[in-house]
Amino acid sequence: MDGVQCLALLLAFSLVTSASPVNIQDCTLQPLGQEQGVKVLYSTSRVPSGCVSQGPLETDWEVHILYLQYKDRSGVSQLHLNVSSAEGNSTQQRKVVFIVSSNSHTFLTVHSEDLPLTFIYNSENIFLKTNYGEANSTQIPSLGSGEELLKWAELMYGGVSSFANVGSPQQILFQVGKEIGTSEDCIPETDFNAGQYLEMDVVSSEVKSCPLSSKHPREEAHIVWLQQSHQDSSSQAVELNMNVTCDKGDPFKDLNVFLVLKGQENLLWNIGSTTHSTRFLVSGQYRLKHISSRTIHGQALPDSKEGLMRKVQERGFDFIASYTEIPSANRITLEIFRCAEPPTEVATTPQASNHPHRTTREIERLLDLMKPWSCLDNTVEVALAKQYLQVLNDPVTAMTLQDRSCVAQDNMTHLVVRSFLEDCFTQVERGIHVKNQLILTLASLQQVTVPFECSLPEKLSLQLYPTPEFKLPSTTLEVNKVAYVQVSFRTAAEESSPQLQECSLKTSGKASLLLIHNGTSTSSSVKILGAFDNRPWVHRFQFIYEAEDGEWSSSLATLFCRVSLSHHDPSSFESSLEVKVKTTQMHNPGLALSTVVGITFGAFLIGVLLTAALWYIYSHTRPLAKIPPVSANPPASESSSTNHSIGSTQSTPCSTSSMA
Ligand SMILES: *[C@@H]1O[C@H](CO)[C@@H](O)[C@H](O)[C@H]1NC(C)=O
Repeated sequence: MDGVQCLALLLAFSLVTSASPVNIQDCTLQPLGQEQGVKVLYSTSRVPSGCVSQGPLETDWEVHILYLQYKDRSGVSQLHLNVSSAEGNSTQQRKVVFIVSSNSHTFLTVHSEDLPLTFIYNSENIFLKTNYGEANSTQIPSLGSGEELLKWAELMYGGVSSFANVGSPQQILFQVGKEIGTSEDCIPETDFNAGQYLEMDVVSSEVKSCPLSSKHPREEAHIVWLQQSHQDSSSQAVELNMNVTCDKGDPFKDLNVFLVLKGQENLLWNIGSTTHSTRFLVSGQYRLKHISSRTIHGQALPDSKEGLMRKVQERGFDFIASYTEIPSANRITLEIFRCAEPPTEVATTPQASNHPHRTTREIERLLDLMKPWSCLDNTVEVALAKQYLQVLNDPVTAMTLQDRSCVAQDNMTHLVVRSFLEDCFTQVERGIHVKNQLILTLASLQQVTVPFECSLPEKLSLQLYPTPEFKLPSTTLEVNKVAYVQVSFRTAAEESSPQLQECSLKTSGKASLLLIHNGTSTSSSVKILGAFDNRPWVHRFQFIYEAEDGEWSSSLATLFCRVSLSHHDPSSFESSLEVKVKTTQMHNPGLALSTVVGITFGAFLIGVLLTAALWYIYSHTRPLAKIPPVSANPPASESSSTNHSIGSTQSTPCSTSSMA
């Protein structure tokens, strides 16, 4: 920021005269609507009510209760809970139980570094997600008030360490492992200072505004009244920042802002970022951090809403964009959404108040939080739980990917849409990062587009190619011909540096043939073509499978490879590929088994018929009297027996044919 310009403005500000005094009756403060584009955030350790005590009887346990009370219960709220351990106590960690109750749908995201946390919460309202995987969690009985919850926890654990009705914070920083209370009982006090262990970021729900006097005023006033009481008498400081942002396009940096900051007398305002053209009216003292460290004395300001508003109007600002009373804060941020180009009228249309539809932004945030997309092996899937869609108060009529022809199906519990990596305009970057968009169409015809990305699971894959161009993969391995193999490893882990350890070919019924061992080829018929250290990691080699002479089969074989990785868990990956082994000089090409069987049977049949025919011819042409020659001098006894036997031979089937 240009300091000189700013100082000049400050001086100019003291000379500002009421150019157009506005009648205070013109402005009736009304609760701020979403479309007015102002958000006031502050961080504080003061909770609406709370207490601390000695904690459970079991001294290695801590039990903390967070009681969330949202004013707007139709909403879907988001709370980040950041749990850290107090320094020095990290060695002997105590078991920590968080009991969380909310009166509205809440996405609770927990961040913690390896602390033994257990969550007990009402799951009909709270959707819990942690940065460390599965949360150890149980249900609580539905209890009405905070006091009831406190009583229940005391009975359950023999005491609680802390209780806080925190209102509706966006984020809570919580320190565990501290001795925070000495009293036996935890008796909630209102406006409780939980600064010992808790700080929270709150979006004020108390922001009010005058209706817009013109469509796109280029100057506006913001009033912040920090009401914290005098009880800490030492000088206090509060940090204040103002950011102008824009959803689409450039923010309107030259916005003329008149900032009125009212606090107690001894309060020092440390003012950080503002617009170039911001004028200040501050009670107590203030410092413009970007200009100098000098403290500027402010002036006494009225102790009433009307008085403060009159001050603004006296300075010629007829649009009070926000008026906020803040109970207590260490840090205040004004987020002002203003674009250099005024938005087109369709962008934000206020909805009927009895059915508050979520704004596009809210739905985008919600989807970002739920992350319903996931990358599978070779597909991307979006599965949106219908349970969570109810809170939109606006039925989803269609859900598609960026390619509108990829439409989700309803499977009772979820809306599910899947796509292959090649379809639905899916983009794959560096072989692993998948990008697409989720497009929701709501009954109100509102459309929400959320770009998303996910990483494909890690995978080692093998491919066989018949040519050195590595173009068209094949599953046939030709014997005595050069085959080309590509080993690729898909991972997002940059530093994993994969090494090809081993590759082998296992043919049916034989010992496997080692092709690569410890990264080097095992014979002259294997040639390593090199590693291509891009993403995905690719390693190539070629080899010749030399089959023995006269081998006759078309059998299956398995190509297998193993890759080792450093700084990675698991430290190795394996993959195998089934291939058909094909011999080029086959002896009976095209001779199928059925043909063989057919020919054999045919030959057998011909043989049988021939034999029968020959026998027939033989038996018809032989003379009946012809007696087979006998030995010249047979012994008498034997001779008779022979004659008899011959006689009996004549009564064989042939005799019937001879009589015929
Ligand atoms: C619907 O699909 C999702 C995602 O694939 C799955 O988790 C869920 O179990 C399915 N529900 C039913 C009833 O099949």
